[in-house]
Amino acid sequence: MKKIFISFSIVAFLFGCNSANNHPKPNTNKGLKDYYKNYFPIGVAVNEHNITGVQGKLILKEFNSVTPENAMKWAPIEPFQNVYFWKNADSIVAFAKRNHIRIRGHNLCWHQQTPPWLFVNKNGKTVSKDTLLQRLKSHVFTVVNRYKDAVYAWDVVNEAIDDDSTKFLRNSKWYQICGEDFIDSAFVWAHEADPKAQLFYNDYNVIRPQKRERVYKLLKGLLAKKIPVTGIGIQAHWSVYEPTQDELETAIKEFASLGLKVQFTEVDISIFPWEKNQRAKKPNENDTYTDALKAKQAAEYKMVFSVFRKYKKYINSVTFWNLSDKDTWLDHYPVEGRKNYPLLFDTALQRKPVYWDVVKW
Ligand code: XIL
Repeated sequence: MKKIFISFSIVAFLFGCNSANNHPKPNTNKGLKDYYKNYFPIGVAVNEHNITGVQGKLILKEFNSVTPENAMKWAPIEPFQNVYFWKNADSIVAFAKRNHIRIRGHNLCWHQQTPPWLFVNKNGKTVSKDTLLQRLKSHVFTVVNRYKDAVYAWDVVNEAIDDDSTKFLRNSKWYQICGEDFIDSAFVWAHEADPKAQLFYNDYNVIRPQKRERVYKLLKGLLAKKIPVTGIGIQAHWSVYEPTQDELETAIKEFASLGLKVQFTEVDISIFPWEKNQRAKKPNENDTYTDALKAKQAAEYKMVFSVFRKYKKYINSVTFWNLSDKDTWLDHYPVEGRKNYPLLFDTALQRKPVYWDVVKW
C-alpha cells in the first residue's frame, strides 16, 4: 500500500497533477517571467521595502522588471528645489542591477505628487512659463542622467488627458502655466538626457473609447511634430467589469498603427467598478472576495493575457501595479480601508488560483 502511494506521489510530482485544484501545476520553479519569456518582460511596481526578505525573493522568482511605485516621482525625489532625495530610488535601482532585471522609470512630469514649491516663487505667486519649463528641464536632466545606465524606459508625461470627454488636455497647473508645450519639452529633454531610453506617454482608462481617441490624437500630434515618443503606456487599472476583448484589441491596433510600442504599465484587476474620486467607505459596503468575483476576475485576467500574447509583436512590457493582495494601493484608493484583491498573489504572498489562468494556455 505504502509502495503504491509513493509511486503515485512520484507520478503526480512528475506530471504535476494536484487534485485540490483544477489547474495542473507542471513546474512551480517557473515564474511569470519564464512562462512569458518568448513574449515580453513581466514587471512589478515596488517600494523600497518590497525588495528585501521574502517579498524580494518573490519578485526575483516571478518578475524580470521593476518600476519604483513612488520613489522616482517629483515630490519624493526632489522635495525641495535642487535638493534631491535619492535613497529609495537608488536602493530599487541597485536591487534591479544586482539581479540583472529591467527598470522602468516612473515618472518625470505629472500633476500629482508634486512638491509644494514647484509651481510658485518665493512669494507664493504662480511662476511664469519660462521659470516652470526651466524647472522641468533641470529636473528631467538630473533624474534621467543619474539613472542613465539603469532605466531603459521612462514614463515621461503621466495622465495629461482630461477625464471629461468634451475636453482635451487636463486643466492642470502644468497646462495652466505652459499650455501644451510642457509635454513636448519633457520628451525632448528626456531624449537629450538619454538618447537610448524608450520614452512613453502614460495614462489610465486608455481602453475606454472616449479617452482612447483623445490619447490617440495627442500622440499623433506629437509624432507629427517629431517629438521623440517611443510608445503608449496603458496603465491598465482595470476591474472585473472592464475592458472587453474588443475594446482592448481595438486600442492595441490603433496605437500600433501609429508605429508606437505598447506597454501595459500598471496592471491590476479590481473587484470593484472603477471610481475616480476619493470617498469614505459606506457603512454597509461589502468587500468580500466572493467566489463569483474570483470567477469574474479569473475570466478577465485570462482574456487580457490572451490578448497580450496575441499582440506580442507590439507589446514590449507588462507590469503589475504592486506585488500582492497583502498590500495594494487599491486598499486605500479610492476608498480608504476597503480591501481589494486585484493581483495574482494573495495576502500570504502565495499564488492565487487566478495565477494559473495567466500562465496556462
Ligand atoms: C499610486 C501609488 O501606487 C500610491 O502608493 C500613491 O499613494 C499614489 O500613486 N497612476 C499612476 C501611479 O501613474 O503613479 C499611481 O500610483 C497609481 C495611478
